[in-house]
Amino acid sequence: MKIMIVVGARPNFMKAAPVIFAIRDHNAGLPALRHSSSAPSAGAVEEKIQLVLVHTGQHYDEAMSGSFFTDLGLPKPDVHLEVGSGSHAVQTAEIMRRFEPVLLEEKPDEVLVFGDVNSTVACALVASKIALDASGRRPLIAHVEAGLRSFDRDMPEEINRIVTDHLSDLLFITEDSGELNLSHEGIAREKIHFVGNTMIDSLLASLEKADKSTVLDQFGFRGAPGAKQATRPYALLTLHRPSNVDNRETFLSILEGLTELSSTCPILFSAHPRTRKRIAEFGLERYFHSGGAQADGETGIRLLEPLGYLDFLSLMKQATLVVTDSGGIQEETTCLLVPCVTVRENTERPVTVTCGTNVIAGTQSERIRQAVQEQLHRRKPGRIPEKWDGKAGARIVETILRDFAGRNSADNSLEETAAAATVGGAIGSGKPE
Ligand code: UD1
Ligand code: UDP
Repeated sequence: MKIMIVVGARPNFMKAAPVIFAIRDHNAGLPALRHSSSAPSAGAVEEKIQLVLVHTGQHYDEAMSGSFFTDLGLPKPDVHLEVGSGSHAVQTAEIMRRFEPVLLEEKPDEVLVFGDVNSTVACALVASKIALDASGRRPLIAHVEAGLRSFDRDMPEEINRIVTDHLSDLLFITEDSGELNLSHEGIAREKIHFVGNTMIDSLLASLEKADKSTVLDQFGFRGAPGAKQATRPYALLTLHRPSNVDNRETFLSILEGLTELSSTCPILFSAHPRTRKRIAEFGLERYFHSGGAQADGETGIRLLEPLGYLDFLSLMKQATLVVTDSGGIQEETTCLLVPCVTVRENTERPVTVTCGTNVIAGTQSERIRQAVQEQLHRRKPGRIPEKWDGKAGARIVETILRDFAGRNSADNSLEETAAAATVGGAIGSGKPE
């Protein structure tokens, strides 16, 4: 079986890594499965998986792409499309144009896409209409992190989610809301598989390494040896949603909502390239500083380059509070039980609010200020959502293999029935010789 995995932008890498490792583990276990004297466990499929890893190049800076391959221990992509940045139409079209010949050359049985970025929808769209041979065969499409809905169609990702889900043959959901949303849209129940969250698989697998990061020392937030607290208090901030940072008023409103917090607790702001551009364009530099190691009593917002995955996890785990508009960070803080204030009007990840440590504050400064205070004095403990247990990647690979085996045996029996019908038809046709 040949599986093609498509990644392109920062949040794809940590979602894809556990599936890649589960494929590797599956292949490594095959000889044992074959030579085992006891019968293989129910549902185990002895099919070697050939993996083709495609990177679209939607994100390309070392800090937005390369460093994640190193931190996560990912293999080098087999194919790199090098599309780079552009408007939605240009980027999506360019990915499609460059992906089509790769699909025709590789002819995979299955294409796996992740999350809700332009690379996700572009490659799903190509795979859905391709003809790999004269019979018109196309690869199956599997969407990892299916079913999430913000119900806000002004959000480009919402369009990507809806389109990708409707093109997919297997939909892997991370939380209950996914099943409800997909059922409401008429997607057949048997295509939906609740497997857990691969982003959380990566988080759990990386925590030990993240603990070795020296980022807290670099920024001067490690407590003095023997001090009561291992770290000095700080908050962590990320912003990159176009609705927040491409609009000067909204961006300012968010910053104003954080002034009370930043006057007592330093805020570390990992700024996405889009955000950095807007800070320069809107002349917002005076809201930030960019210091070296933290001086005692430092306050304000310190502007940082995007951080590597392990450094970011280390900072997130120790933070007093996280303020973000990121999808993935709402989930990671839930898993780490760190209070999170989401500066958006909605979330496509409701389980992070109902079960986790997240509150949705919107973007008005007063509401943000209140949410920050609420979270700083939070009493309600968070809970880890169902199946966010580090095993989602393995569940996905098992499901794909079982599904593939099931389809093959259905095809074979159809062929046999057709052959039998042809023979029977010829004998019993009564046509003159
Ligand atoms: C994309 C995703 C978004 C995701 C985010 C994660 C879509 C529609 N959006 O948004 O869902 O949350 O990634 O980070 O797919 N840039 C660089 N270097 C890079 C990449 C981008 O400088 O390596 C700059 C370019 O100026 C580019 C801008 O950032 O125009 C935006 O990049 P783009 O990939 O279009 O969207 P993101 O905002 O990153
Ligand atoms: N992340 C990171 N460094 C940073 C900011 C985020 O490693 O400076 C990680 C974060 O831990 C999470 C992922 O990037 O795993 C989230 O990606 P992003 O916020 O870019 O996208 P979204 O989740 O909003 O689609």
